[in-house]
Amino acid sequence: MPPRKLHIKSYGCQMNVYDAQRMADTLAPEGYVETASAEGADLVILNTCHIREKASEKVYSELGRLRAAKEQAARDGRGMNIVVAGCVAQAEGEEIIRRAPVVDVVVGPQSYHHLPQLLARAKTCGRALETEFPVADKFGFLPQPSRQAIRARGISAFVTVQEGCDKFCTFCVVPYTRGAEASRPVAKVIDDVRRLADNGVREITLIGQNVNAYHGEGSDGRPWPFGKLLYRLAGIPGIVRLRYSTSHPRDVEDTLIDAHRDLDALMPFVHLPVQSGSDRILAAMNRRHTADDYRRVIDRFRDARPDIAFSSDFIVGFPGEAEEDFAATLALVGQIGYAAAYSFKYSPRPGTPAADMQETVSTADMDQRLVQLQNLIDSQQSAFNRTALGRTIDVLFDRPGRKPGQIVGRTPYLQPAHVEASDAIIGQVLPVTVASLERYSLFGTLASQPASGEPSNHAATGGAQFQTTAGV
Ligand code: 5AD
Ligand code: SF4
Repeated sequence: MPPRKLHIKSYGCQMNVYDAQRMADTLAPEGYVETASAEGADLVILNTCHIREKASEKVYSELGRLRAAKEQAARDGRGMNIVVAGCVAQAEGEEIIRRAPVVDVVVGPQSYHHLPQLLARAKTCGRALETEFPVADKFGFLPQPSRQAIRARGISAFVTVQEGCDKFCTFCVVPYTRGAEASRPVAKVIDDVRRLADNGVREITLIGQNVNAYHGEGSDGRPWPFGKLLYRLAGIPGIVRLRYSTSHPRDVEDTLIDAHRDLDALMPFVHLPVQSGSDRILAAMNRRHTADDYRRVIDRFRDARPDIAFSSDFIVGFPGEAEEDFAATLALVGQIGYAAAYSFKYSPRPGTPAADMQETVSTADMDQRLVQLQNLIDSQQSAFNRTALGRTIDVLFDRPGRKPGQIVGRTPYLQPAHVEASDAIIGQVLPVTVASLERYSLFGTLASQPASGEPSNHAATGGAQFQTTAGV
């Protein structure tokens, strides 16, 4: 049988990027091979995001475009199946089926291991929908990626250690779309990381909607806190960098702080969303922490690891947010000093408590606050990036650059760093002396010659650009 072409388009967070890989791994034994474009594909999966209104609207416009592609495929005598997966599928399954006849399968994030059966069911019954939260452990059903798939995905990989959230912030859909918080057992995480490392992966980003709430069962039969998991993973040969996302300020335990003090492999760059600097708004958001609590958490990290840098998420225009609340957010940003941050206009999500709150903020006020906050964050990010100039910073090289002879990697703070070198340095951590800066990218020269053997791990110095897991 000739390979069947699979195109997955992912929206939203890192968890979706990871889930897309797992869907591809589930479909590989069925003869599906990934392709970069929907055109000519036998199966297209839209891996959707429901976190804000704009994110979910995209699904319906993309489905409009896919309808034309599917009709063209039918005229060419081919079939094209369309699957809607991800959090919009979970939240609006029935509605998708009603609104978009072009869709063959709707599948929620807990059921990706059933994709082959759902496709078969759609073939015989016309359509298939599965958005249950099964009681069984969904993690256990996921297939292992092949060696070939791991190699094709590069030297940096995501590993899900935890999924779901029990925090119920009043604006957030995650507890409804991803369900209750669940952690994978330590042994399973270790197996995954070992397998990735054995196949050339050098950097692991542990992901979860509330990753530092991790409490997976350890080798002693007891729940392990997140920090303890990090200590264990840092000892796996081949792994030179560990990262994690996304963390909640309430769940920062001492073992995590200790891990930042003790582990060279643990990168000194932490995504710690605060959402607002106003205690009144934080309470209305049900964040379960005050601005001062957040400042104290930041201080604990900084005491343990002075070169640590932070990124965050902010929501402007949450219901009831007055000028003085917004001023408190700006003040907090000023006090912390971020290397990067994301900021969003509040978007009411159906079914969440905040969607029923009456004191809405006008669009004009939201727009104006967003611009003000983003300007402040941009200036902090630029200042942070400028501190890299003239310094020698460890870079993990991961891919060829756009220009011939150029290799690109990431600093500990996820800034892209470019040097002229041979592609033999891909997979190695090497010190780079930074000569110039273009927007978010650093340019420099190798400060020492590459090792011919295994990648090294140097201690780090140095600013940020990246993508996080929707959550906390
Ligand atoms: N409106 C605006 N932003 C939101 N986020 C989550 N829910 C909403 C919402 N309803 C943001 C939060 C979260 C990030 C992933 O998305 O800042 O940390
Ligand atoms: Fe959970 Fe984060 Fe959503 Fe709050 S914002 S409910 S902590 S995922």
